[in-house]
Amino acid sequence: MDHFLYRDGELFAEDVPVAEIAAAVGTPFYCYSSATLTRHFQLFEEALAGLDHMVCYAMKAASNQAILTTLARLGAGMDVVSGGEYTRAKAAGVPGERIVFSGVGKTRDEMRMALEGGIRQFNVESEPEMAVLNEVALSLGLRAPITVRVNPDVDAKTHAKIATGKSENKFGIPIARAREVYAHAASLPGLEVIGIDVHIGSQLTDLAPFRMAYRKVAELTEALRADGHDIRRLDLGGGLGIPYARSNEAPPLPLAWGQVIREEVGHLGCEIEIEPGRLIAGNAGIMVSKVIYVKSGEGRDFLILDGAMNDLIRPAMYDAHHDIVPVVEPEAAVEMQPYDIVGPVCESGDTFAKQRLMPPVQAGDLVAFRSAGAYGAVMASEYNTRPLIPEVLVHEHQFAVIRARPSFDEILNRDTIPEWL
Ligand code: LLP
Repeated sequence: MDHFLYRDGELFAEDVPVAEIAAAVGTPFYCYSSATLTRHFQLFEEALAGLDHMVCYAMKAASNQAILTTLARLGAGMDVVSGGEYTRAKAAGVPGERIVFSGVGKTRDEMRMALEGGIRQFNVESEPEMAVLNEVALSLGLRAPITVRVNPDVDAKTHAKIATGKSENKFGIPIARAREVYAHAASLPGLEVIGIDVHIGSQLTDLAPFRMAYRKVAELTEALRADGHDIRRLDLGGGLGIPYARSNEAPPLPLAWGQVIREEVGHLGCEIEIEPGRLIAGNAGIMVSKVIYVKSGEGRDFLILDGAMNDLIRPAMYDAHHDIVPVVEPEAAVEMQPYDIVGPVCESGDTFAKQRLMPPVQAGDLVAFRSAGAYGAVMASEYNTRPLIPEVLVHEHQFAVIRARPSFDEILNRDTIPEWL
């Protein structure tokens, strides 16, 4: 469920007509709904109610300060993967004790920043990382709280580029080696082993791989406890998928995921941490774009939009489907037409959809890409020197630009010409 609905013949974001935002900020732009963000966050809180738990939003999905602040005020922790994200989380008012640091390539500087600023735990992904974190912590006279990310070798049955739990992926340590690695971690005085971490991939639409991974984590918890480790926290990652095509997908809801968690690890008495990103932000955002031209090609019509692959790369990168709907509500009886929906960037990969059935549209019409709130704005670039598009946050009848479109001067001023040129 989200808060982008047709009302009085046009698309609204909560109580604001999308066309009104477009008139004020220009196209293309991202638009987020506070109510949807809030509701989605709360679904996870409800799913884990009664368990000792923390929902750490995977802010890589959408990391605008206004979005983080919205979630932080609801009590969200944050899952960060870089010094930049750590800095964003702190700036949004999230205390260090609620920030988890994930990622395969943490640098010394990032470790130092987090240790000095406060951190809930590092999810360590390799032995070399463990050795470096031990050194950095000791140099600061601290002990770094850690979990080790284990790779359970389960097939998440998602797009290969976003599956992370198979043995051939770069993530975590093979679960078969976990006892040895934990023994090593426990011998390092700069580390404090507190738990286990697992994350098997993103956009999972089936609970079975989660169940399999969590069962392995439960077994490992018991084995590690028998080895004398005080395993008291389980970070079970994120990855729950969302419906991208309204018509035919119904992935499991957070409540069902929570049930799997209860069944597989609930008896262990551990604090449960989860790191959802996409499900919180994905359907809380749309990208609004304008049709520049309708071009008749060889046997097909192209809708050429002012938004492009640099603004929303998911279709080009993962062949991802996003529903694309006109901002003016089509008549129920309208005859749909197939279009290739493309952006202005100079490569054929700049295609959002091929032969997509749409109500007839004309130059100047606005369209909205649904489910664009996660991995949309954060993955944008300025390819073709197209300015990063603005982000807007709606709350009931109000909207605010939460990131302005940069001017060409601002873009050019980031470059410098060496004096010897
Ligand atoms: N925790 C870890 C360690 C992760 O690597 C990720 C996502 C998450 C949590 C959050 O997963 P989520 O709940 O959002 O599925 N750019 C891709 C998705 C990449 C996901 C990377 N890791 C896309 O647009 O589909």
